[in-house]
Amino acid sequence: MLETITPHGGHLVNRMVAEIKRDEWLKKADTYPSITIPHTTVSDLLCIATGVFSPLTGFLTEKDYQSVCDDMRLQDGTVWSLPITLSIPEESITEIRRAPYVSLRDSTRRIVAIVQVESIYEVDLFKEAKQVYGTTDPQHPGVARLFKQSPVNLGGDIWLLHRPHEGEFSRHHYDPIQTRERFQKNGWQTVVGFQTRNPVHRAHEYIQKAALETVDGLFLHPLVGETKSDDIPASVRMKSYEVILQEYYPPQRVLLGVFPAAMRYAGPREAIFHALSRKNYGCTHFIVGRDHAGVGSYYGTYEAQEIFKQFRTEELGIIPLFFEHSFFCRKCAGMTSYKTCPHSQDDHVILSGTKVREMLQAGEIPPPEFSRTEVIQVLINGIRKKTTIQ
Ligand code: ADX
Repeated sequence: MLETITPHGGHLVNRMVAEIKRDEWLKKADTYPSITIPHTTVSDLLCIATGVFSPLTGFLTEKDYQSVCDDMRLQDGTVWSLPITLSIPEESITEIRRAPYVSLRDSTRRIVAIVQVESIYEVDLFKEAKQVYGTTDPQHPGVARLFKQSPVNLGGDIWLLHRPHEGEFSRHHYDPIQTRERFQKNGWQTVVGFQTRNPVHRAHEYIQKAALETVDGLFLHPLVGETKSDDIPASVRMKSYEVILQEYYPPQRVLLGVFPAAMRYAGPREAIFHALSRKNYGCTHFIVGRDHAGVGSYYGTYEAQEIFKQFRTEELGIIPLFFEHSFFCRKCAGMTSYKTCPHSQDDHVILSGTKVREMLQAGEIPPPEFSRTEVIQVLINGIRKKTTIQ
């Protein structure tokens, strides 16, 4: 039997309440003070409960929060780069302070989880923005989301009572325990994880396949949690992944799964967080390309790669695979990168995500050197559908 990689912190966290105990727990949960949480927090709950965020067993307490913001480590020294927090409305603090637990309700008012009242603390949102996102600019989507929160957090262990609905992506939803089983069954000793919030264009395909030349399996793991409104919707992207996999990838070497977390756009810090989460899914390697998890021009092109130098390989426990900016070169007549192509920029087919979205909206077709025709067709249909619905 093949061994799978050890989860971050030593074991896979499971904070899901067993089916047979749920009614009893729900009855109790009904007696605690409750707060309604946004969709991004529901995603965090699912990730904590299923071990995606191992070793976290709940929302960060004050000491862990300070340590993560200041040093990218939990108090015990384990590497952790993003504060996973629960902000609570200021008017509920007095009631929450007196209670042992708080019930968390989703937007339909259903209780999805309870959290132990361990640590109630005030935070400096500006400081957090500077430390985590490297900016306090409210135009930054992660900062904008942060600034909408109250500056008071509740830290403590959670128990998940209801799994959020997986809806249209249920076919591709795997918890870390399931991907670990799949990788083992496939006989994959080495697996490279690929995070994306975009369709798979030629550059993505190139770096994935370059990685796949040296490892046993590729875990294509698009993020389907909340993204900014002008990113291509997950439902359209999922169709585009299915077509490209069908036409251009060896099925026995790839698994497509969805990553339920929300996008933070925290660039370097999020690259570490993405790598650690994929380690929990059982990946041994993780791709970090150009401007990973970046937005606008807040981060340097390779900042998300450079941050890995701050940690020892064994404390991360997953091997990052770095790739330079890749593109199609007309003179090379193939995919290449600044590392391997000697030709001038005039020969390179490079389009920004914004440019591609503008082209698609204007009914223009990006060139096949940039994206596979099958992928473009799915995107055009998706955008047309969205425009008709609006
Ligand atoms: S994100 O999740 O990192 O924001 P995106 O889909 O843009 O999503 O990128 C997915 C991965 O591919 C990231 O590791 C990113 O650095 C890498 N990447 C995207 N485009 C390129 C490119 N042209 N060359 C090299 N790496 C790229």
